[in-house]
Amino acid sequence: MALYSGWMMKEATRILPFDDAAIAEAARLVLAGQPVAVPTETVYGLAADATSAEAVARIYEAKGRPSFNPLIIHVSSLEDAELIGVVPATARHLLEMHWPGPLTLVVPLRAEAGIASIVTAGLDTVGLRVPAHPAMQALLRAVGRPLAAPSANASGAISPTRAEHVLKSLGGRIPLIIDGGATERGLESTIIAATGDRLRLLRRGPIDVPDAVTETRRKIEAPGQLASHYAPSKPLRCNVTEAAPDEFLVGFGDVAGDVSLSRSGDPVEAAARLFDLLHVADDAPQSRIAVAPIPDEGLGAAINDRLRRAAAPR
Ligand code: TXA
Ligand code: MG
Repeated sequence: MALYSGWMMKEATRILPFDDAAIAEAARLVLAGQPVAVPTETVYGLAADATSAEAVARIYEAKGRPSFNPLIIHVSSLEDAELIGVVPATARHLLEMHWPGPLTLVVPLRAEAGIASIVTAGLDTVGLRVPAHPAMQALLRAVGRPLAAPSANASGAISPTRAEHVLKSLGGRIPLIIDGGATERGLESTIIAATGDRLRLLRRGPIDVPDAVTETRRKIEAPGQLASHYAPSKPLRCNVTEAAPDEFLVGFGDVAGDVSLSRSGDPVEAAARLFDLLHVADDAPQSRIAVAPIPDEGLGAAINDRLRRAAAPR
């Protein structure tokens, strides 16, 4: 199949430390239609040219991701975002406050924007984000096109917060990983929909948007809300203060555990370490994972949301 006769599985994945030469090489690959892994302030993304359906198909190919999942498009500025989506006045203040940063806005797509329909999985809406990380910003400038980028992990696996996580999940399936060290936030962006009269919260994340209504309907609009989306390979139990002998315990605050999300009980530190420690737990000799209770406020609620999905039966 011509579409899939790309790079996959022919060479080893290269890792280059973030610098000008690495960005130039990443831009060359992206313009040649290849996806490359690049750090953002949230998690590592697998970035491809959003105007090329083949390039975006290679994201799905590398991730093994179901084709109905729409992807977030990354751009350099609010002005560039407005070339792709229709930003309503009700959302503008949010973007002015939080961009560049870990906030994704879902808005009506401009049909003339030239975005490959595979990016939005055929939807007439589009998720847009201006990332804050210098590596992703540099890549956007070097490529000069919008970049579709889901988290750089195999479908259903834990989101990567380090270059090594990407390598473990996608090694041999992508040509290049830009290594920018551990990501600052460690949680995917907050997703807000601005497609109706009111702002709606589609995914919790680092940014709190008090004037957005939480979706209560059962309808799944963002596939990231699927129960088992954020899942380690082992069974996971939440709210555990004493682990069973076959459990690896991820602690928090007073619950020490085998490792701790935050000994001081700081939800910001816990969020930044969450996926890292789920990877550690998944690699531990114990057959199950247990996680200590985390107060259900602010970022704690976002962490618990991730953990509930990881704990969901599948
Ligand atoms: O922090 C992040 O957002 C990271 C970094 C790489 O930017 N990206 C990320 O992408 O988490 P991904 O593909 O793993 O998650 C994107 C989420 C999915 O749940 C998807 O369904 C939702 O965004 N989404 C994208 N476009 C949408 C749309 N038009 N309507 C509803 N949901 C949408
Ligand atoms: Mg993901």
